[in-house]
Amino acid sequence: MSDAVTEIERGLAALGESFQKRFAEAQDEPALRHAKAEVLGKKGDLTAVLKRMAAVPPEHKKSVGERVNEVKASVERAFEERLAALHRARREADLNAPPFDLTLPGRVPAPRGHVHPLTRVRHEILDIFRSLGFEVAWGPEVELWENNFEKLAFPPDHPATDMQDTFWVRVDGGAPDAKVLLRTHTSNVQVREMSTRKPPMAVVSGGPVYRRDDDVTHSPMFHQIEGFLVAERVSFAELKGVLTAFAERLYGEGTPVRFRPSYFPFVEPGAEVDVGCVFCRADDGSRPACRVCKGTGWLEILGCGMVHPDVFRHTGIDPETYTGFAFGLGVERVAMLRYGIPDIRLFFENDPRFLAQF
Ligand code: DAH
Repeated sequence: MSDAVTEIERGLAALGESFQKRFAEAQDEPALRHAKAEVLGKKGDLTAVLKRMAAVPPEHKKSVGERVNEVKASVERAFEERLAALHRARREADLNAPPFDLTLPGRVPAPRGHVHPLTRVRHEILDIFRSLGFEVAWGPEVELWENNFEKLAFPPDHPATDMQDTFWVRVDGGAPDAKVLLRTHTSNVQVREMSTRKPPMAVVSGGPVYRRDDDVTHSPMFHQIEGFLVAERVSFAELKGVLTAFAERLYGEGTPVRFRPSYFPFVEPGAEVDVGCVFCRADDGSRPACRVCKGTGWLEILGCGMVHPDVFRHTGIDPETYTGFAFGLGVERVAMLRYGIPDIRLFFENDPRFLAQF
């Protein structure tokens, strides 16, 4: 028998089943891996034995090789079994441990955000109308010219269409005569709702609108709220009642409210609503220095009127049976007056130093 074969057999005998015990004693994965390295690592007991295989004479290679491989395989098996057992025990321990208290405060306080001031004002306005019995509806920002202008009784070449400089949208592959734009006001919701429902209805809607305008009080994108009510025998009295209630809820009870005749193509008669200046509170104009109301004592807050019979005709509602009123207002304006914000662009710059003040 060659030396190498003898050495290998001695080596295997010395190793015996000792690895079983070493693995069993390992209490965690690093310890187990360490124990394995002592057997199969670079300087491991079995590795030393394996190295002698090279010197085994060819006639013994097969039988000795088989035995060595068997031992090696049983070491691997024992390792895998112990590893699985350790993992199981660990999982068991985790499951039996007292649960995490997810309500504990974090170590680093989480910064807390809040809704954008415009979102807040929009919700507040919509909530007032909801509490007055209006339903909230939605309309698209990319709209057909018909819904933004035509069905609202803007004549095609009427100067009123110039009142609102429009962003036009090119629709690739769209119908050649389709005129698509970014809505210039939320009044498109009137057309959409009146065309698809039967009166009575009382609806409000809010969202972004777009015009080619850009200065301290105008932004190319801003927000409006639209509202309208259609039923039998609705008169200007209901319009005044609802909008006065709204102004008092928004600006405080007893806030002076006045209606001034005005023109919008989709109402007849039309009016603008002013509230007594929330800054100087001098609706007799006795504070000529007030810069917010320019000394008039009044602030214009919305446009309104009785729905024009043509709008009813265009949306399939019989103007002989139904009447209604409509109104529209800008959200930024309300927020600027409420918080004394001098420049509309501050809302859209997303500077946290500004937003954190609300
Ligand atoms: N759409 C008008 C604008 O953007 C606002 C408006 C005025 C809406 C009168 C109405 C209304 O519903 O009745 O200037």
